[in-house]
Amino acid sequence: MSNRLPTLALVGATGAVGTVMLDILSRRENVWGEIRLVASARSAGKVLRVRGEDVVVQALAPEVFDGVDVAMFDVPDEVSKEWAPVAAARGAVAVDNSGAFRLDPDVPLVVPEVNADQVRNRPRGIISNPNCTTLSMIVAIGALHREFGATDLVVSSYQAASGAGQEGIDTLRDQMAKVAADRTLGTEAGDVRAAAGELGPFPAPLAYNVVPWAGSLKEDGWASEELKVRNESRKILGLPDLRVSATCVRVPVITTHSLTVHATFSQEVTADAARKILGAADGVEVLDDPAKGEFPTPADVVGTDPTWVGRIRQSLDDPRSLDLFLCGDNLRKGAALNTAQIAEVVAREFTS
Ligand SMILES: NC(=O)c1ccc[n+]([C@@H]2O[C@H](COP(=O)([O-])OP(=O)(O)OC[C@H]3O[C@@H](n4cnc5c(N)ncnc54)[C@H](OP(=O)(O)O)[C@@H]3O)[C@@H](O)[C@H]2O)c1
Repeated sequence: MSNRLPTLALVGATGAVGTVMLDILSRRENVWGEIRLVASARSAGKVLRVRGEDVVVQALAPEVFDGVDVAMFDVPDEVSKEWAPVAAARGAVAVDNSGAFRLDPDVPLVVPEVNADQVRNRPRGIISNPNCTTLSMIVAIGALHREFGATDLVVSSYQAASGAGQEGIDTLRDQMAKVAADRTLGTEAGDVRAAAGELGPFPAPLAYNVVPWAGSLKEDGWASEELKVRNESRKILGLPDLRVSATCVRVPVITTHSLTVHATFSQEVTADAARKILGAADGVEVLDDPAKGEFPTPADVVGTDPTWVGRIRQSLDDPRSLDLFLCGDNLRKGAALNTAQIAEVVAREFTS
């Protein structure tokens, strides 16, 4: 324990999540001393702004972690897998946003509003941040679970292009520019596909389309993203037997994931009781007045911090079940904000 402000390294500062992190670090209460910005050798020497100051990006190397207390990793899985242990071996607490360690039993998977106590349980010196789809619902589901006891979740996602990183954003923008001029498109099979051009990280055109796929192919036809929703929800809520079924779909939205959730609990839940619990929960906003056309949409939610919940209905078939529509900015709470919140919990260990 000391009273100095801890030193932070942000690895992946030039990426989609890293860019939002720079903004978040600039806006939140300043709990950091020095902030070092790190990316690949391609970006070394670039100048980025954080907290109103210009900072030169350094190439990832073991020495960048010397004197670092907390290292955030917003980089691809394989980079985190190799380098988070290097940071930890040099004395930093690594907070990792990739999928590399999420299901490692020696690495806590943390959402501060749900299980902040797990931050100290880090035998490898690494703390993991959940994937953006799980994060876009779990704060709200966690609040309902605390009150009513969750038993089953049936989830459909409507995921934004930026969930596939900067390449996903660039691909959707390029495709939109190509298809927008032609007002005949969308009437014949294959014409959007022919006009949209490069598919980028998606298996089908995303402009004028929806794509029922996110991630890589796993056993029995499941997509990796669907298994992440299942496994990560179980780990965060501490419910290894929670029944979870997810279908992940990509939609032509730049940023903000949406989900429908059919959630079943161990006791009866009315829509009003759910609204009350969600309305009082940290990090959740309820916007639920369909008579006035009020419900969350990605266009309104993007750039905000909370998880937004609307369309709250008690199931017509089972009074223990609710149907909900949720939206969360996948680059903020879905990635950078949650990582920043975890890192701040660790930072308090240095100053309290
Ligand atoms: N996008 C989302 O909604 C989201 C949400 C939750 C979690 N995540 C996870 O967060 C991580 C970053 O995602 P992103 O969407 O920000 O990706 P991105 O836009 O592709 O950015 C990747 C970042 O990693 C850096 N990088 C790549 N290879 C590197 C290497 N060998 N050494 C050092 N730095 C390297 C890049 O630096 P250069 O610019 O120098 O190449 C860039 O800063 C991924 O693990 C992703 O799964 C993303």
